Amino acid sequence: MTDKNKTISHILTEERRHPRHLVDILQDIQAGEGYLSKDEMLKVAEFLGLPASAVWGVATFYNQFRFAPLGRHPARVCMGTACHLAGGQLVLEAMARELEIDIGSTSEDQEFSLERVACIGCCALAPVFTIGADVFPRMTPPKVEEVLVAIKPAGARKNKANRK
Ligand code: FES
Repeated sequence: MTDKNKTISHILTEERRHPRHLVDILQDIQAGEGYLSKDEMLKVAEFLGLPASAVWGVATFYNQFRFAPLGRHPARVCMGTACHLAGGQLVLEAMARELEIDIGSTSEDQEFSLERVACIGCCALAPVFTIGADVFPRMTPPKVEEVLVAIKPAGARKNKANRK
């Protein structure tokens, strides 16, 4: 039995074999794996006797679930009220543009993932984003570029420069 199978077998226990436990089960899987894979969602559907589309529907309804592994540099843009009012959406769009990935996805080289999150508790510094444990305050689209240039691997920067 692989570690992954062992983990899911500890989550899919008999006392949880009821659709009311679906969200709890998905949360536990994501806590262990960092995301929900298609295989795991199919196992959950079979375990609970639900159509796969129902599990997918619930998982995609909640912003908390992700469907790809986190990148080595997980970027989280705050979209809480203070950050949203201070231009968080522009920061989020700049981040997606600079990283060349969609919100909620991970770059092909697994370097970056991008998510929008609710308030991270430093509203006085809005708009903010985090990359790993680092918090970047009072962001603007040009500042997003500056931050990412300092973090991105040299190869990725060169590829982007060549496309300009
Ligand atoms: S709303 Fe962004 S830190 Fe609170």
